[in-house]
Amino acid sequence: MQRCNAPSRGEGRARPGAAVPRCRVMIRTKDKTMKQDPIAQIAQIRQSHPNNLMARHFDMAYFRALEPALQQRLLKIIASGIANPDSSMGAYAMDAQDYADFAPFFDALIHDFHGIPDDTPIAQPHDWNTTQAACDLGGIDPALKDVSMRVRVARNAASFPLPGAMNRDQRVAFESLAADAFAKLAENPAFGGEYLSITPGSPHEISADEYDRRVAAHQMFKDMSNDRFLNVAGISGDWPYGRGMYVSEDQDFLVWVGEEDHLRIMAMQKGGNLNALFDRLHAGLTVLEGLLPEFAMSGKYGAIASCPTNLGAGMRASLHMKLPKVTQGGTDLSAITDAAKGLGLAVRGAGGEHSDAGADGLVDISPSARLGVSEMQIMRRLYDGAAKLWAMEKAA
Ligand code: ADP
Ligand code: ARG
Ligand code: MG
Repeated sequence: MQRCNAPSRGEGRARPGAAVPRCRVMIRTKDKTMKQDPIAQIAQIRQSHPNNLMARHFDMAYFRALEPALQQRLLKIIASGIANPDSSMGAYAMDAQDYADFAPFFDALIHDFHGIPDDTPIAQPHDWNTTQAACDLGGIDPALKDVSMRVRVARNAASFPLPGAMNRDQRVAFESLAADAFAKLAENPAFGGEYLSITPGSPHEISADEYDRRVAAHQMFKDMSNDRFLNVAGISGDWPYGRGMYVSEDQDFLVWVGEEDHLRIMAMQKGGNLNALFDRLHAGLTVLEGLLPEFAMSGKYGAIASCPTNLGAGMRASLHMKLPKVTQGGTDLSAITDAAKGLGLAVRGAGGEHSDAGADGLVDISPSARLGVSEMQIMRRLYDGAAKLWAMEKAA
């Protein structure tokens, strides 16, 4: 990947809280908030929302050194984090090349989010060999034998812009390529199934009722046009064109098309056996790789994704666990969130990101880091972390 003539990481890097000079560059967007000086807004956000990583690491000296066309590109990348000061990341790449072209900017966010020490180079190892460790939660407690498990990887085709920069024709063209691949996958006895589209007029189009049922079953993604982060980034643009989902007959291998990344490829099973879950995903991913256009991958960043949180293995492996005591019946996630953080895990509500916990204390736990850790390290972090949180619940 090509590099721009920008200062290397660390050079002229702004300290959190440091004053940021004013700048005349305006981002072209329909969003009114961006008509103000975005650089002054970043300075304000840095004070008011110190957890917004984009604002925390934005380096004015680096920005000023960029040519105007590169400045405009970077402003589009950070638009969501400016319009949504409560962002935790606050940036989305528009093209795979952005990570290399704006490495001094992205690398600071990546080190911070993925917990990679500043003096450790960013690099992505891959390892799918599940035979190294038995990670069956049922072995910890038979009560964990019916937890719901999900593991997904983000993948993007190298030949298309990332979703934030796609137009409607490109979204539909990518979906059509994916549907061709699914037609072949459907003939594979291990992964046979059907493609369900929500693109108006698609030959695979499903009804609104079926879409709602699939969302409620945690299989299909929610209406993206309600997501303020994705809206500003352009990722939910042209909704619902170019969107759909492949689902295997046994309902445990699924592929999302046209959500935050071109593809989210996942395995979902009940039963606590993480080894089996990961093997299922790896087998399906390997078959799909042979049927689809080449994915955007990098030795440094691993799988390229829209959001820097999803680089690397591109993997979020999660468990839906009932922890009613430590969550006070789902009403207070603070204790569990703090404990999980110490174990490298993030806690979400049972309806996915930005949702609340169920009344029965059902939460979604998953390892936060996806870059700099292999697939197997993620599996083991989830297993070890879940064992510790379960011990907390039992002791509560
Ligand atoms: P991601 O960003 O990893 O794709 P989200 O938080 O957006 O995940 O959630 C997507 C959907 O997946 C939601 O419906 C959520 O409830 C569901 N989900 C996540 N983990 C599990 C799990 N372990 N079991 C069942 N459903 C899950
Ligand atoms: N852009 C949002 C933020 O910065 C989401 C970040 C992580 N989640 C995601 N789905 N990419 O808070
Ligand atoms: Mg999501």
